[in-house]
Amino acid sequence: MTDIVVLGSTNMDLVTYVEKAPQRGETVPGRELRTIPGGKGANQAIAAARAGGTVSMIGAVGNDAFGTRLRSTLEHSGVDTDDLRTADGPSGTAHIVVDAEGGNAIVVVPGANGTLDHLSPGDEGVIASASTLLLQLEIPLPAVLAGARAARRHGVRTVLTPSPAQPLPGELLAAVDLLVPNEHEAAVLTGRTDPREAAGALLDRVPEVVVTLGAAGCLYAARGAEPLTVPAPEVTAVDTTGAGDTFVGALAVASGEGRPMPDALRWAAAAAALSVQREGATVSMPYRPEIDELYAS
Ligand code: RIB
Ligand code: NA
Repeated sequence: MTDIVVLGSTNMDLVTYVEKAPQRGETVPGRELRTIPGGKGANQAIAAARAGGTVSMIGAVGNDAFGTRLRSTLEHSGVDTDDLRTADGPSGTAHIVVDAEGGNAIVVVPGANGTLDHLSPGDEGVIASASTLLLQLEIPLPAVLAGARAARRHGVRTVLTPSPAQPLPGELLAAVDLLVPNEHEAAVLTGRTDPREAAGALLDRVPEVVVTLGAAGCLYAARGAEPLTVPAPEVTAVDTTGAGDTFVGALAVASGEGRPMPDALRWAAAAAALSVQREGATVSMPYRPEIDELYAS
């Protein structure tokens, strides 16, 4: 039995570090170029596995060197890759510029992720055997929707990170149990820039919402309850890439273990705070003992 199944993207992140991201027409020097396994789906899978979850990933890598490395990185973190396809073509890539404050700008080229526009015959069974399904928006929407519907049919809790930001069909949101947008994504979905107002508007469409607020932590809202703000540990960020994914992966593990939401959110915030202090997405994600330690301090 798989506790957590992730249906989503894998990307090789091509990361450069700069003082300040270049403006149009500008050339700036970068410190180095690193290739670091990432992609919102793989990130969430690895974060959850390192946090102690039993995790399986449905996705696609390309038939290139990046694909080989993406697959082995997932396996080394303990993620089951039996349902990770190898597509005929290049792996997904993300071209990332990280600035001196740890902020980033990203261009994603889907590659193999773009071939995932439907579920394969075995996928529904994998989803049905899980207790939680994690979804993001870096694979074609029809597959995301099919995954959410399959989860609904089998009573599997569905968590959607609506990223990259885009308007969503009502039928997708109707199959989601917990939505985890950042402030920008919440604003795109609701037209409201105030996170409390956005969360309130989203509760008309999903039963539970967590709006992530970066260094300020997160805001949790559920139908019929007072919204709750959960602070994040104070740390110095060097690279926030994948912090939201780390948060979601750890949150899925903690709530899957039956921890009450305020507690699970604080634990997930500790995981994200650890990840932003190190460069890269997957490579910066903490293992469970480290999360426990920061959570307890
Ligand atoms: O959420 C972070 C991820 O977004 C990166 O790892 C990159 O692959 C982009 O897709
Ligand atoms: Na990081």
